[in-house]
Amino acid sequence: MMEQHQQCFVRHTSCTANMRTALRSAFPVLDLPLQPIHQHVYEANLHNSNTCRNKFMELSEKVTKGGGENAIARHTQRNKKLLVKDRLRLLLDDEDFLELSHFAGLGLPYGDIPSAGCLTGVGKINGLWCVFIANDATVKGGTAYPITVKKQLRAQEVAIQNRLPCVYLIDSGGAFLPLQSEIFPDKNQGGRTFYNEAIMSAMKIPQVSVVCGSCTAGGAYIPTMAEETVMVHRIGTMFLGGPPLVKAATGEEVTPENLGGARLHAEVSGCVDHFAWEEKDAFECARNIISTLNFTLPEEEEDEEKMRRRKDEEKPLFSSEELLGLAPRSYTYSLDVKMVISRLTDGSRFQEFKACFGTTLITGFAKIHGHLVGIVANNGQLSYQSALKGSHFVQLCDQRDVPLLFLQNTAPSATLTLSSTQAEMNSNCLKAQGSMMSAVACASVPKITVVIGGCHGADSYAMCGRSFDPNFLFLWPNARVSLTAVGHIGHLLHSDNEQEEERKNTENDLNRMLEEESSAFFSSGRLWDDGVILPQDTRRVLRDCLNIIKQQNYQLSTEKLQSALLRI
Ligand code: COA
Repeated sequence: MMEQHQQCFVRHTSCTANMRTALRSAFPVLDLPLQPIHQHVYEANLHNSNTCRNKFMELSEKVTKGGGENAIARHTQRNKKLLVKDRLRLLLDDEDFLELSHFAGLGLPYGDIPSAGCLTGVGKINGLWCVFIANDATVKGGTAYPITVKKQLRAQEVAIQNRLPCVYLIDSGGAFLPLQSEIFPDKNQGGRTFYNEAIMSAMKIPQVSVVCGSCTAGGAYIPTMAEETVMVHRIGTMFLGGPPLVKAATGEEVTPENLGGARLHAEVSGCVDHFAWEEKDAFECARNIISTLNFTLPEEEEDEEKMRRRKDEEKPLFSSEELLGLAPRSYTYSLDVKMVISRLTDGSRFQEFKACFGTTLITGFAKIHGHLVGIVANNGQLSYQSALKGSHFVQLCDQRDVPLLFLQNTAPSATLTLSSTQAEMNSNCLKAQGSMMSAVACASVPKITVVIGGCHGADSYAMCGRSFDPNFLFLWPNARVSLTAVGHIGHLLHSDNEQEEERKNTENDLNRMLEEESSAFFSSGRLWDDGVILPQDTRRVLRDCLNIIKQQNYQLSTEKLQSALLRI
């Protein structure tokens, strides 16, 4: 009875939610064109952005080649399998999906692993946003490197945080054996994928898998633990130990198909639920499975309503290309962040909050493609006043259920320590920043962070850095991620006069290290973020993220969420 009542309540609220229309708004316009006074800084930033864009293109090309020509030929001609991009084309409604961590796996101590050996992202299947995790078997047989495991776990986390169905396309030789000690034993390593699968099922997050290649050892648990699995004849195999292992153990010669092919698992073991003759059929089947999920998306809007929404989604007054000259090449090349905001929001409109107080942090409301967001943007060092203001605004958004967008450009720590004469103020500042961190950590609304410049020191935590669990975190290619910035380290090194030369050498070494390690591509290669995006694409990426985040409002069965969340 109680359950029935709850179901009625859920249905009723979701229906009324569909009928609701957003309150009309006409926020003030930020009319901030470029002025001659900005020219010098703008051009220096633009020059740097162009260099970063070239690097972005160069790395994108490298990633697109996957495991290289020979591996692609082996995959398509000898193994008769589709490339991962073609598989995604068959699975998703269109090519307009949000790829996550495109550069993950590049520049690691154990080499370049394009796409970390698997593509992840969020795309639409029959109109529903779903996370996908798809092995690229052209990269060392789709084996899992430590970075592959990290990427898979992050994609599952995205599914959990945003309550998105998750589809696994499996074509993997299991653990990359030479690095087994970094893949197998620890908490957030291989086994965690399976643990998450169970918890996700308990949370009613649907999981579907398609076995379209090898699925050996631990990897075989992904399809067996998913709620529904499709397997492709002759292409998919699934076993704990392959034919060579069987021969070594028993002397018996067995074909992969007889040991763990699609027919065996569909007819005998029951490990898979759907048999597909070809890959094309398997992806069609996966799309049909998604159609059985209990979501009700909002009805197609009436024409008039559509037109009104489009009007709400006015374009910014200024070209997004101008963001390239506003993306700071270093902290000292930052222009007023309101110029960035005015190139991201609908109609360049912005309802500023506490405009006269704590002006080194800009806070206020705006719409992005019709979605209301609360923006928190650095405009200098996070002072006592600005941190207080930040806490206040974050709590306001939490109370009103408005998603938060952080535009992060935090100061290198040495810049902060320069104000040593104001010891009392510094202590107050600490307290206020701590409060802002608490406000951000405890806010239950979705959060998106875009690092538009620096991600330095403790301020980056208050601005919802990676450890503060934003739903999505992206970097502009000019972004710098390090405790302190290049050139600021000297203030932090102590020496007396005799050791001056040694100090200088240490400083030079550390600066060289910072230069390399703080680059956005270094960060993204290690999966400290969800990807590097070009500044001019930011509005589109934010639109996708906000649409994705909103989808959970349309899922009908939401019970058990809280208790399952406690186990993550
Ligand atoms: N660890 C490390 N390297 C592996 C690997 C593994 N588990 N599985 C495959 N590779 C490497 C191969 O050595 C080869 O490297 P190379 O290109 O430098 O020569 C590359 O991946 C591709 O493998 P190959 O066998 O040539 O390709 P394939 O398409 O014919 O077969 C597999 C791919 C995955 C089916 C096959 O390699 C295989 O069965 N691997 C062993 C799987 C296994 O037992 N895993 C247990 C993990 S616990």
